[in-house]
Amino acid sequence: MVYPVIAIDGPSASGKGTVAARVAETLGWAYLDSGALYRLTALYMTQQGVSPEKEDAVADLATHLPVMFHHGDIFLNGNNVAGKIRSEEISLLASQIAALPKVRAALLQRQRDFAKSQGLVADGRDMATVVFPNAVLKIFLTATAQIRAERRAKQLGVALDTSEFQQILSDIEQRDEKDKNRAIAPLKQAEDAYLIDSSHLTIDETVAKVLDLYRQVEK
Ligand code: DC
Repeated sequence: MVYPVIAIDGPSASGKGTVAARVAETLGWAYLDSGALYRLTALYMTQQGVSPEKEDAVADLATHLPVMFHHGDIFLNGNNVAGKIRSEEISLLASQIAALPKVRAALLQRQRDFAKSQGLVADGRDMATVVFPNAVLKIFLTATAQIRAERRAKQLGVALDTSEFQQILSDIEQRDEKDKNRAIAPLKQAEDAYLIDSSHLTIDETVAKVLDLYRQVEK
């Protein structure tokens, strides 16, 4: 049995996680936050004292991640680490090891396994291009860097006329460059993906657009 997959890729702070989770909930499907797997690998490395230079050892940890996803919580070795994996330190390390081919290969099957027992909405950078090339619907969700920075600032309670905001904007721009230009599985729109620019859309409007597209392709 092959279950349908909706792949949603896009740059950081594009809202893809929130949108993907909401679409999954509406359809009664599973949800995969693939970025969390890179973040979990990064956290596990720090716990096990493995350095990012040791690609084989990092890939081995990625293969054997003792992880459990449960109702929005994420457990590593039985400890809830949903908050911890979002720290700045882990974000940086995750982006570093996401560029290692052996780590990406180690996480490939683990990601595909999420579609083994039910429909799946998966978000990330290479869901449509590498992990689920046969997805029934592929979405590339983006928004301008300025708008994404403003959304992140709002979440963090940072005013837009501050140097802190300028820092958020420049971090986003730097991460975009890194994601787009890395040699392996770079962030790019798949040829058969629909582009949604959410710069002037609410979350509800974006979710409705994805569901609309799904109903069209499902016919
Ligand atoms: O989406 P996120 O910010 O949680 O992702 C964390 C890191 O993992 C980020 O540096 C991009 C990388 N990533 C990736 O390379 N491929 C994916 N499918 C998902 C995330």
